[in-house]
Amino acid sequence: MTKNYPTVSEEYKKAVEKARKKLRGLVASENCAPLMLRLAWHSAATFDVKTTNNGPNKAVRLLEPLKEQFPILSYADLYQLAGVVAVEVTGGPVVPFHPGREDKPQPPPEGRLPDATKGTDHLSQVFNVQMGFSDQDIIVLSGGHTLGSYRKERSGFDGPWTTNPLIFDNSYFKELLTGEKEGLLQFPSDKPLPDNPVFRTLVEIYAEDEDAFFADYAEAHLKLSELGFADA
Ligand code: HEM
Repeated sequence: MTKNYPTVSEEYKKAVEKARKKLRGLVASENCAPLMLRLAWHSAATFDVKTTNNGPNKAVRLLEPLKEQFPILSYADLYQLAGVVAVEVTGGPVVPFHPGREDKPQPPPEGRLPDATKGTDHLSQVFNVQMGFSDQDIIVLSGGHTLGSYRKERSGFDGPWTTNPLIFDNSYFKELLTGEKEGLLQFPSDKPLPDNPVFRTLVEIYAEDEDAFFADYAEAHLKLSELGFADA
């Protein structure tokens, strides 16, 4: 979709660049890239990150001092910038960032995020129908689970998808093809991906070719980070 990005002031642009540097430091010192990426995803999917979500609360708390330092930035921009930085500093692709998102006065309705206990039909409903994404987008964005883990206190499950959950690479796809392994988790939304022939072809491509994954991921992440923003 063609985008019509808003013009932001020089002061705003400077704040973005300073916040980007501070975010790099924060991610390095707190090892919180997974938290930041998850926050960005939930924020983009217009979940109400501020109230009931027990995942991103910690990320929101970690970002609050930066919001105070750069009050000119909207929360929406700060959260998306944090997601972009999280991917970049863990070795992933550079995702373009365009500033100018406005915070909405009211939180959006809940229940827009995919339910991890449901299978691929449900994923299609959320991604294809609700968000207008392609099958390729679904698969490539699921590759975001190359970072981070399930947490007992949040979902009741414990463990990462890959052996190095602080490195952004294509290992999520390699693990999907290998099947379940001790110490690594695959959930109902991950596990059946290789069973669907269209999905499987993509999983195989990304497991084989990290450059292809990075290029498609950067595009899909950009699209995700700009859902409902700057639509022409
Ligand atoms: C396809 C639909 C998705 C489902 C069903 C899903 C589900 C989940 C679940 C159940 C967890 C673990 C929660 C916990 O135990 O605390 C999780 C964590 C995570 N998700 Fe997703 N997710 C999806 C898509 C995405 C996308 C698109 C991204 C980003 C591109 C993403 C990034 C993450 C990250 C980074 C974590 C780890 C957070 C941490 O370690 O603190 N997820 N997701």
